[in-house]
Amino acid sequence: MSHIISKSSSSSSGTSSGSSPVVHLERYIKYGHTYVAKHMHYHTVHTIEPANIQAILATSFADFQLSTFRVDAMKHLFGNGIFTANGEKWQHARALIRPCFTKHHIDHHIQTLEVYVQNFLTCLPADGSTVDLQQLFFRFTMDTATEFLFGYSVGCLQSGSFKTALISGISDSQFVDAYTNSCIAAAANIRLSILQYLKFDPRAYMSRKIALKYIEQYVDEAVELRDSRKLGKPDGVKYDDGRTYIFLRELAKYTGDREVLRDQILNVLQAGRDTTASLLSNLFWELARHPKVYKKLRQEAKVLKGIPPIKQELLKMKYLRQCIDETLRLHPSVPVNTREAVRDTVLPVRGGADGSKPILVKRGIQVYYCVYALHRQTKYFGADPHQFQPERWENIRPGWEFLPFNTGPRICLGQNFSLIEASYLALRLIQNFECIEARDDRPWTEFYTLVVCSKYGTLVLLTSAT
Ligand code: HEM
Repeated sequence: MSHIISKSSSSSSGTSSGSSPVVHLERYIKYGHTYVAKHMHYHTVHTIEPANIQAILATSFADFQLSTFRVDAMKHLFGNGIFTANGEKWQHARALIRPCFTKHHIDHHIQTLEVYVQNFLTCLPADGSTVDLQQLFFRFTMDTATEFLFGYSVGCLQSGSFKTALISGISDSQFVDAYTNSCIAAAANIRLSILQYLKFDPRAYMSRKIALKYIEQYVDEAVELRDSRKLGKPDGVKYDDGRTYIFLRELAKYTGDREVLRDQILNVLQAGRDTTASLLSNLFWELARHPKVYKKLRQEAKVLKGIPPIKQELLKMKYLRQCIDETLRLHPSVPVNTREAVRDTVLPVRGGADGSKPILVKRGIQVYYCVYALHRQTKYFGADPHQFQPERWENIRPGWEFLPFNTGPRICLGQNFSLIEASYLALRLIQNFECIEARDDRPWTEFYTLVVCSKYGTLVLLTSAT
């Protein structure tokens, strides 16, 4: 199986404005917290002013949509799903997907995780040699996401056990590779912005075809169950064939449209899988360099006496949550985001000579907001904002200044789901390993697929607790 992340697609310029978040931060220092720039032939507005971000994402939500470049970059690979939809289409997609993320469904998901944790543990070297946790986190989230979405896990953590030919004729490993290639191609297109229209990528086209064919077998199954009225009641936990919660089947209760089901599933897989893996990999990258923090986490976990946690116990792990928030602050999965004005509108502040007046944003203008730079403002996060200091969360309660999951009507639908999943695996590793040491001196360097993670992986040495 090929790697989930391909180093060949590495680039220092990972955002749709063609610059890394570090460059964005430097520009905010040089030009102020809101400025206008020219990107190739079109004008752009850049902001990290919370009041302006609030307008873009919430109070003037109807004046903005997903950037056309982003939609076009993703659409021919991910179809018409929630991640490529604007306006009414997006409202329908959100209304369809939202009911599938209830507390009840998350409670069910947590019960499925231990099997994958055990698979994860068996992938760790027994001889104390260096391991790249990042690769394993990407495999873990692929396994759990496919279990959650299709009711069948692709088994990335058990590389020997891939099925070679399913009903679709596409093996699990072919699907994983095709999906990965699609993500890399979409990320490359986003970086190219307007130049993407000059590119034809036959490999990406083939990858999409393979990924779709694979997913369609599960869609067909769900639609057949729907047609024969075997999906149970909308709020039920068990289907008539005795299986428990499966996201695709839940969606099929609301629509039998195969194309809608296929594209939404692909979009949710894309939304959820890479982001959770990147959070875990960045968290352990930091923990490997902060032994005192790790020790404190071990201390907090002691109350469980090595036993897998239930949800209520996980939620009580305050310090773990602080470490996760600190990781999301320093390494947001989507460090630079964009929206496009659909009509002439204004951003409320930083216009006029003294910055107190609104700024005119004309229809079609691309507006960039940089969460990476926002999360590094001393004004909101205290001293040393470039340092990993989970304790800072004892004294701060940021609002619009902390946006790892976005906010407003398009806020991440999987926030609780991913926090539970990431906390669960993190805690289980903390329980199982006495200490964790970094095996790489290079500074954290960004690497892009559709989210940002560590370019050199998370190379560590783990010392077993037993
Ligand atoms: C650490 C983990 C995660 C982070 C940091 C994260 C972050 C985000 C962000 C920033 C957005 C907004 C994108 C935009 O509008 O430009 C988003 C949207 C979304 N996320 Fe997440 N996400 C995470 C995990 C997940 C998971 C696990 C799922 C599903 C299983 C998920 C499902 C979604 C969906 C469906 C949307 C689209 C919402 C909409 O457009 O209405 N996310 N997420």
